[in-house]
Amino acid sequence: MIIRKSADELRAMRKAGLVVARAHELVREMIRPGVTTLQIDQAVEEFLRKEGAIPAFKGYHGYPATICASVNEVVVHGIPSAEEVLEEGSIVAVDIGAFVDGFCGDSAWTYPVGEVNGNVHALLQVGEEALYRGIAQAVEGNRLSDISHAVQQYAESYGFSVVRDFVGHGIGREMHEEPQIPNFGPPGRGPRLKVGMTLAIEPMINAGGYHVEVLQDNWTVVTRDGSWSVHFEHTVAITDDGPRILTSLQE
Ligand code: MF3
Ligand code: CO
Repeated sequence: MIIRKSADELRAMRKAGLVVARAHELVREMIRPGVTTLQIDQAVEEFLRKEGAIPAFKGYHGYPATICASVNEVVVHGIPSAEEVLEEGSIVAVDIGAFVDGFCGDSAWTYPVGEVNGNVHALLQVGEEALYRGIAQAVEGNRLSDISHAVQQYAESYGFSVVRDFVGHGIGREMHEEPQIPNFGPPGRGPRLKVGMTLAIEPMINAGGYHVEVLQDNWTVVTRDGSWSVHFEHTVAITDDGPRILTSLQE
């Protein structure tokens, strides 16, 4: 069952989303060569708690940290570490989820560390735009897979690939609600989108092939071919006025 949210519930979700957006601003300012992913994790946790928010990932199926920090060929669910020092030319996807007043906001963004090469820059640009192409399809009357198809079409038109094994999700009082939202597939399939639905749309785009593997720690997801990967995610509400991004800084 897809849980649609009332205007009051959407206000609470926006509160959660805004805290997550502000946490990302903090991350953006922190990222530079020499910083460790654990330092970022600690700063985000401190910020969220100061804002009265509860980190959504910590303890989720035993996940040990507040953020996921996924560097270069790591696709998602990289565990922050004091040993992982960010280097010039790398990329790091930071995923942040938080509960405020019982509702969850979830957003990921991939940041360059210093200057990155041309192909990596293109991967970042295409990943971000793929997210916005998906969000643009989150309108009443469309079907769910219109989102999926728009993401895939755009990313593959640049020769990049879309991860199959991890998908976006409905979100609300739980971080993961129905429906699952693949980033690939034909258009016109799945449930019809309706006002009040809240979706975490999160394309994971690889520079090489789409296959991924999970490392021995049972969390870290890497590309099978070692190519680099980006992850962009927003929590979005479907409204009468179209898609509303709940995890952006601006209205
Ligand atoms: N944004 C991811 C998701 O929606 C983050 C979950 S990480 C976990 O699934 F540790 F909480 F699992
Ligand atoms: Co998510």
